[in-house]
Amino acid sequence: MKKWTVATFQAAKGQMRLGCCTAYDACFARLADEAGVPCILIGDSMGMTMLGYSTTLPVRMEETLSATAAVARAVKDALVVADMPFGSYQCGDDRAMANAVACLQAGADAVKLEGGTRVCGLIRRMTEAGIPVLGHVGMTPQSVNAYGGFKTQGKTREDADRVIGDAKAVEAAGAFAVTLECVPSELAAQITAALRIPTVGIGAGPVCDAQWLVMHDLLGLNEGHVPSFVKKYADLAAEAKRAFASYVAEVAAGTFPPPRS
Ligand code: KIV
Repeated sequence: MKKWTVATFQAAKGQMRLGCCTAYDACFARLADEAGVPCILIGDSMGMTMLGYSTTLPVRMEETLSATAAVARAVKDALVVADMPFGSYQCGDDRAMANAVACLQAGADAVKLEGGTRVCGLIRRMTEAGIPVLGHVGMTPQSVNAYGGFKTQGKTREDADRVIGDAKAVEAAGAFAVTLECVPSELAAQITAALRIPTVGIGAGPVCDAQWLVMHDLLGLNEGHVPSFVKKYADLAAEAKRAFASYVAEVAAGTFPPPRS
């Protein structure tokens, strides 16, 4: 398999649907890459999956850069996208540019940022500077406090029109693809048909050009709340607990480690 680029990711629209996921360390990024995942996102979901927070908001730029560098070191073929954390692009465009540059210098091929029309100036400035941007509209988890919870967006005609407007604005600003999170399938299908760039859905039904799943949900590592749209492809939490418990029991019983000469 050849290295996925922004251009090949875009060229897949209408040709093949792409199953993409998050990863936050070299170990799992290498496994996902070797299994053929075309695009790996160092999601700010790491705040919830890896760092034990209840939202993505506390994730810091240093944590994103460290995880991005680890993932980039391990990946050979997948497109590597760094998710810009809350606060890294809301406190002035110059600071946002410097943070996006730092993501690429850490090894990312592109950055992702949340928001529609309100972040279009920034998307334009980044793409003009050679920083590919993946947009994110619909339910944007960094706005959880404004929504009052992680709530499906675009359910009324008026709100659906707002999400469509956001997706079109993000495309016009130069994003190479756009995430559609937690919107009704019909709306996702309408946006996917209306845009030239690929849509990457999560909780947005089957019609998007690509899909995201958070790695911990996909692998069954997350024993907390799992969104209803998730499919668990393995039960690694149970397998890991079984292995830890066997190890503890064998050490207690004196059957591990064996004698060494
Ligand atoms: O942080 C993340 O994992 C994401 C995906 C849900 C798209 O933004």
